[in-house]
Amino acid sequence: MDVENTVRQLTLEEKAAFCSGYYYWHTKGLERLGIPKIMMCDGPHGLRKQVGAEDHLGLNESVQAVCFPSASALAASFDRNVMEELGTCLGKECQAEHVGMLLGPGVNMKRSPLCGRNFEYFSEDPYLAGELAASYVKSLQKEGVAACVKHFACNNQETDRMSGDSRVDERTLREIYLPAFEKVVKESGVRAVMCAYNSLNGTFCAENKKLLTDILREEWGFQGMVVTDWGAVKGRVKGMEAGLDLEMPGGPGAQDQKIVDAVREGRLDETVLDRTVERILRFVSDCVEQEKETAWNHEDAHRKAVEIAGECMVLLENRDQILPLKKDVKTAFIGEFAVKPRYQGGGSSHVNPWKVTGTLDTALEKGANVVFTRGYDTENEEDQKQVTALIEEAVQVAREAEAAVIFAGLPDAYESEGKDRTSLEMPEVQNRLIGAVAEVQPNTVVVLHAGAPVLLPWRDRVKGILLAYLCGEGAGEAEEAILYGRVNPSGKLAETFPLKLEHNPSYLNFPGENGTVEYREGVFTGYRYYDKKALDVAYPFGFGLSYTEFDYDDLRLEKENIKDTETLRVTCRVKNTGTLPGKEALQLYVEPGEGTCPRPVRELKGFEKISLMPGESRKVSFVLDGRAFAYYSTEISDWYVPSGDYRIQIGASSRDLRLEKTVHVEGTKNLPVHYCASMTVGQLIREEKGRQFVMKILAKYMHLTELEIEEQPDIEDCPEIIENTIKNTMMGMPLASMVTYGALKEEQLEAFLEKMNS
Ligand code: BGC
Repeated sequence: MDVENTVRQLTLEEKAAFCSGYYYWHTKGLERLGIPKIMMCDGPHGLRKQVGAEDHLGLNESVQAVCFPSASALAASFDRNVMEELGTCLGKECQAEHVGMLLGPGVNMKRSPLCGRNFEYFSEDPYLAGELAASYVKSLQKEGVAACVKHFACNNQETDRMSGDSRVDERTLREIYLPAFEKVVKESGVRAVMCAYNSLNGTFCAENKKLLTDILREEWGFQGMVVTDWGAVKGRVKGMEAGLDLEMPGGPGAQDQKIVDAVREGRLDETVLDRTVERILRFVSDCVEQEKETAWNHEDAHRKAVEIAGECMVLLENRDQILPLKKDVKTAFIGEFAVKPRYQGGGSSHVNPWKVTGTLDTALEKGANVVFTRGYDTENEEDQKQVTALIEEAVQVAREAEAAVIFAGLPDAYESEGKDRTSLEMPEVQNRLIGAVAEVQPNTVVVLHAGAPVLLPWRDRVKGILLAYLCGEGAGEAEEAILYGRVNPSGKLAETFPLKLEHNPSYLNFPGENGTVEYREGVFTGYRYYDKKALDVAYPFGFGLSYTEFDYDDLRLEKENIKDTETLRVTCRVKNTGTLPGKEALQLYVEPGEGTCPRPVRELKGFEKISLMPGESRKVSFVLDGRAFAYYSTEISDWYVPSGDYRIQIGASSRDLRLEKTVHVEGTKNLPVHYCASMTVGQLIREEKGRQFVMKILAKYMHLTELEIEEQPDIEDCPEIIENTIKNTMMGMPLASMVTYGALKEEQLEAFLEKMNS
């Protein structure tokens, strides 16, 4: 399609009509010019294609599709290849179903573990979320299917999700809430962005020019189409001027007429509309061009879903190597989720799965010596008589077996789009069940199904904990493979499991008041906070066990000194020292030295997952660029690297750092400084010239040297005592006070300030 020429052939009404969808799941077509409708569907861990009644809440039926692990599970894979495989598989399924765009991935940060949609989001860490999402988008789009990264931006809770105002300072926005979007836009060429419902610092995302144009298009170079979240459009014309393209859903409520009126009345420049329509038609045209016949079948995709699920589960405890289980050891499988695992969350991402096999059936089919008892009833937690009877029966069955595996976790009603949780507790009946079983059966393992962290009050009383997250329709089969050791678990937590909800950094400001939520914890989200506060956690970010062991060794930095405009290659060696093949996700953290602004203790800046046979060792390499050392400075509205020493740490988790070396990084940007009498000594001495000035004055004041003010002193000659005086007592002293103390004359200070400002 010659898009520009097509737009010239459209009437004003036709142009406006293209700016909203054809009901729930299509862009509009135009027969006159042979423009077809393009279908888009939720996503992102499976296809929710509705062919009958349409809705955006996951209420009505959709076609059968393969349900993959949801994002919180996928992130635990710490594996770009997994994301690529997922993208390829979903791309093929979309092509087979004639779907042009899959709505997702969701890359919002996990600010609070209570957010009802956390199962749909990757991580509390923007680097990890961005890397994984970008890999997925690239491979999905390689199959000719557009991705739509969402929800842009700061939609981090379900309370007031459609109307609330997220108040976020600029540095926090840039360092925590935008980088995953930025990475996807810059590195994957994502073809669409979905703007969020909420407002950001007082302006709805759907009409936020700073977000949709200044940052997204001008700074990051986004070339695609901006879609509203379903029903997120606010002022239609204002939105279009801000950079919003397609209103979804279309249909009777769509505001096309407002666009027509605004152009007619001269309130909207028609060229703005033309540009919007061009972007929409370019999207349509790309979809048409990229539609293709693809070989795809459910069974193969299901196998892939099982395989991927096996990469995502996280082994949290494995005392006495209770896992893997032996097939012939009589094991009690306890809990409803053994028959029907909980494998996905509620809401718009809800997939009608193709095939779900429970862990119990899989284990029986594979010939394991297993007995089953129900343990709890998620539909009825109130009837105490039944609760007690089920627990008693479970205790009896567990006692008679040699080991017990309890399949526990959050029931459907606990985690869904549209609603936040109010606590991290698991259902009380399940906690009771686990406690009671663990008392009679020392070899107890818990398999946990939840899309987000929960509290584990019994974690010291059971030997094994396998976090299965919501691992898609392959969950049961993957659980069986891990429990019996055909798959070695290799997932690592992409989020912290806190000891208490109250420890979470957003606790005092979640979900906000009267529709406003202040992100007061700033850049200290997730492990950035727990580490800064030196708080104990249940399981730290990046944590996950394996059935084998890995040794880390031989860390090398390509250079000891770099400029922030250069890159740094970092290598190390990992060896599988255990007896089973396994995979390890190595994590690279950067820890800045003392700086001029408060920064997290360390931040994830690299990760690699590798597969090793027993005894095998391999070199792993990472490349860091200037951004890995930078923070966002609001003084220059840009990333800024303070010169100094930075520790490069390689670890098996954020709290299990195995290797460390230091690199000196020289920042090449300067922060602007305005020199004035109210400036403090501390601020002045950040600059070498300022530091010399203060040292010189003090030297004179303290009669320790005979230097004249005009002379350029050699700092090396100044006694240590002066340095210490400055450090210990003068950092907060305004320069003007040095005049009042008689250390220098007013004219001298003025002359100095003038010289420094010129
Ligand atoms: C959700 C989106 C989803 C859309 C369409 C909205 O309510 O926030 O994530 O893609 O509905 O179903």
